[in-house]
Amino acid sequence: MPIVRASGLFRIYAVDGTPSPVLRDVDLSVEPGEFVAVMGPSGSGKSTLLHLLAGLDEPSAGTVELDGRDLAKLSENERTLLRRRTLGFIFQFFNLIPNLTVEENVALPWLLSGEEVRSREGDLAALLGSLGLAGKRRFLPHQLSGGEMQRASIARALAGKPKLLLADEPTGNLSSKAGEEVIALLRAARDREGRAVLLVTHNPRDAAAADRVLFLKDGVLSPEPVLRGPGLEAEDVVEGLRALGI
Ligand SMILES: Nc1ncnc2c1ncn2[C@@H]1O[C@H](COP(=O)(O)OP(=O)(O)OP(=O)(O)O)[C@@H](O)[C@H]1O
Ligand SMILES: [Mg+2]
Repeated sequence: MPIVRASGLFRIYAVDGTPSPVLRDVDLSVEPGEFVAVMGPSGSGKSTLLHLLAGLDEPSAGTVELDGRDLAKLSENERTLLRRRTLGFIFQFFNLIPNLTVEENVALPWLLSGEEVRSREGDLAALLGSLGLAGKRRFLPHQLSGGEMQRASIARALAGKPKLLLADEPTGNLSSKAGEEVIALLRAARDREGRAVLLVTHNPRDAAAADRVLFLKDGVLSPEPVLRGPGLEAEDVVEGLRALGI
């Protein structure tokens, strides 16, 4: 069973009374432990798609099943619990809470699910250590570099041991070195922990880390060309973009 499956997804906004379709009949499945990248021009609907998959927005038509549960059939509260249990979301602009320290931001998912954070000290130390943040535990977000902020937000996304990581241009605001580290961390989450990753990116080199690259254009997910790894190169991805006129 896919960890997330979208079928016939539409998202239509009304702009000045005129319906404006942002996603059109999108089908997408991600299997457990699979790393999928989605590329597409600005405004093609990538963030909209991720928000729908996470149940943060509702489709105009179509269904999203997260871990086998149809999101439309759940109450808001059930959706929140399912989201907490199943996925971690990584944002382009980090979305760390500015007045909480790194360790408080990372432990937030535990706090929200009512867990005793003190009893998770070992997990917290291991998580921060694995992301190179052991020395930054008590720092506030504004005292971190961009790469450190993104690593803290990855730590927070991983804290709940999610089956699926959704990452919306996580390297978009980073230097290329910090961006490479972020992609390596996503790969490690998949390779070592078996988590599925759905990565939205503009960067062909990032996309080449995926098992499969999909292209979104004008709200339509192109069935072809779909690039498949292993061993994808950035040049393959650039060629795929060119073939679609992106
Ligand atoms: N609330 C809204 N009302 C009307 N149109 C919207 C709304 N939110 C998003 N859109 C439109 O939906 C389209 C897709 O937006 P989306 O944020 O999904 O694009 P994207 O592919 O993530 O772009 P980028 O690469 O720039 O982040 C855009 O044209 C945007 O103007
Ligand atoms: Mg976007």
